[in-house]
Amino acid sequence: MSSFFRTFCIATFLMFAVMPAYPEKPAEIRAIPGRIEWVLSGGNMSYVVGINDEKMPQSVYFGRRLSESAVPPVAGMRPGWASFETPMTTTPLEYAAWGAGLALEPALKVDSANGDRTLILKYMSSQIEANRLEIVLKDTTQPLKVHLFYEMFPEGVLARWSRIENVGRQTFKIDQAASATWNLPRASNYEWSWLAGRWAAEWQLHTAVLQPGTQVLESRVGTTSHTTNPWFEVHQAGLTTEQSGPVWFGELGWSGNWKIAVEVSSTYNVRITGGYNPFDFGFRLPPGQALETPKFYAGFTEGGMGEASRVLHRFQLAELLPSHPRPKLRPVLFDSWESTRFNVAEQNQMALVDLAAKLGVERFVIDDGWFGSRNSDHSGLGDWFVNSEKFPHGLKPLIERVHASGMDFGIWVEPEMVNPDSDLYRRHPDWVLAFPDRQRTEERHQLVLNLAKPEVKEYVFSVIDRLVTENSIAFLKWDYNRTWSEPGWLAGGNETDQINGTEGREVYVDYVRNLYDILARLRKKHPNLDIESCAGGGGRVDLGILRFTDETWPSDNTDALDRLNIQYGYLHAYAPQTMMSWVTDSPNGFDHRFIPLKFRFLAAMQGGLGIGGALDHWSADDLALGETMVRFYKSVQGTIQQGSLYRLSPPSTGAEQVEYVSQDSSQAVVFAYLQAQHNALTYPRVVLQGLAPDSMYRLYPLDPEKYKGPDTVAGSLLMGEGLELNLEGDYAATVVRLERLHEERRP
Ligand code: GLA
Repeated sequence: MSSFFRTFCIATFLMFAVMPAYPEKPAEIRAIPGRIEWVLSGGNMSYVVGINDEKMPQSVYFGRRLSESAVPPVAGMRPGWASFETPMTTTPLEYAAWGAGLALEPALKVDSANGDRTLILKYMSSQIEANRLEIVLKDTTQPLKVHLFYEMFPEGVLARWSRIENVGRQTFKIDQAASATWNLPRASNYEWSWLAGRWAAEWQLHTAVLQPGTQVLESRVGTTSHTTNPWFEVHQAGLTTEQSGPVWFGELGWSGNWKIAVEVSSTYNVRITGGYNPFDFGFRLPPGQALETPKFYAGFTEGGMGEASRVLHRFQLAELLPSHPRPKLRPVLFDSWESTRFNVAEQNQMALVDLAAKLGVERFVIDDGWFGSRNSDHSGLGDWFVNSEKFPHGLKPLIERVHASGMDFGIWVEPEMVNPDSDLYRRHPDWVLAFPDRQRTEERHQLVLNLAKPEVKEYVFSVIDRLVTENSIAFLKWDYNRTWSEPGWLAGGNETDQINGTEGREVYVDYVRNLYDILARLRKKHPNLDIESCAGGGGRVDLGILRFTDETWPSDNTDALDRLNIQYGYLHAYAPQTMMSWVTDSPNGFDHRFIPLKFRFLAAMQGGLGIGGALDHWSADDLALGETMVRFYKSVQGTIQQGSLYRLSPPSTGAEQVEYVSQDSSQAVVFAYLQAQHNALTYPRVVLQGLAPDSMYRLYPLDPEKYKGPDTVAGSLLMGEGLELNLEGDYAATVVRLERLHEERRP
């Protein structure tokens, strides 16, 4: 081969290797000359906001990316409807406070010192800095300013939030504060999807027609919640499918009480308002102080529900996760919980270390039970000191063995909680959330520490910092295992002033802010530390916590069949990179269902792979299969975690098919599952997506007997006719890896 030709080949290869499958269109914000109006564009979407004749910010447009000349002007206030709907109610406003007859979900409601509880916010000024727009509003009579922020991202996601600022001399009390209202184009054929569930059954995807009235997604339990996740999608019936059509989607970044209200008027105006949950809310705003609301992210695509998820995944990887824009791959981990429960001890873990290492595990995690008097969930939470009966030589010998076996070491903590039976509680009974004379509700025999108190925040930071400093810890599984019941702020020290007026309701904001702050400080001090957000499974997964944690534990339910459904819902909103799944033992503790090990492995490979089984009880065959499966996973780890996800067929068909394509489309991997074969029917064809149509792909089936077709197939054929995979019987599953052949690319 001539050197010129070789250079040409290498250059061509590199060009294709680094070329993203979806070149992002840049993010930009343009002010329209001669109007007070801005166009915010990124990816394939544009958003237009302008100031109307009443000096109020009004939503103008939210949809596909606009060309320069296509920007519509602000329509102006709409007339009211008889004497029952004021223009405040009929006009699609960006951030409407309660006042002037607003009869919808207010973005803001404030009590003023003179007894006035209404506001009318009008435009004062604006500024653009890079991809961020700030619009400043002020009330017409009260010394209260509201800053509206917009940040546009190239992936096609817009973040909106607000800052409410007291510029007067008296204290305001904020009753309700949203981040933003999103107004959608008027249409009567909207459907919407949301994620709901409960502990061990999170992430169930629901879809319904959007009817006139108000539909609410919310959490009142102190954290994001297992029951509803702050994510939504709106589609158009008859137009939107998994593969194409308009989708408006949104996600709120807050790990405390939140609310998203979807309001549909009788004339089919749709507005979606989200932010702090006003339920039991209260925030004192003394002179000179400001309250910032969480970020509410939203976007638009014409690529259907599949592309809506991919936009969110790309956005999370490139802009949001702690190690963005190039998050580290999630290593294959082993976790002790399902094998040794609270009996974790030096000896039994040492035995597991050797087995895990042999399987190819990269991270060894000891779960609950290693500290204080923690022999069950009745005691010990709060005492983050190594239990010397279980670990007579401290954690060091175990950690050294883990390292010597080529893995890094992780550990379980639940730092925001305390058992009444703990030294910490005996020392500081006033550190918990409670009301003075009300009986406290215990859940899992534990109470929530009031992290909003500075001394509690400091304790939690320093005790975890010490643990990580004294031991070589690469990973924290940060758990949180109950809801809030009596969210009272017990006074202590000089806090009496704090609890006057709003009775300590600031806890809803300050608690979460302090949690974020602790996590940020830990990460700063220990830059190589990874953290998983776990809350009895998926109780705290949102774009707020994901700014500080690398991955999440979506559910305590590890039954592989249930898990497919849980993961299907989860991946609508969050990237595979963030989703940990374990292979556990069968029959599963939840439902006593028996599922073959291969199916369990392939089900756990849809994101970060973990192993949670009692390896010391696995047969030689199981261990050998495990080794093969881990080796296979490592060959596609980057594509699964950071590639593009295509949901070819949902789990509800009983024949789920999921495909991942690397960003440069040079590698793909397709998983096929069959729950139960009926009537001897052959398995549905697997029709791929997202490949380079003009390239040839070489196929590497994990089970050659399940694929009898040619070794190399053109991308267009794989996306046209697809693959025949021979899956039969019950709980059958297989996987095929595809590699693009550069030298065989067609002209
Ligand atoms: C929670 C977690 C589990 C496990 C237990 C330990 O339920 O979700 O994975 O860590 O706590 O108590």
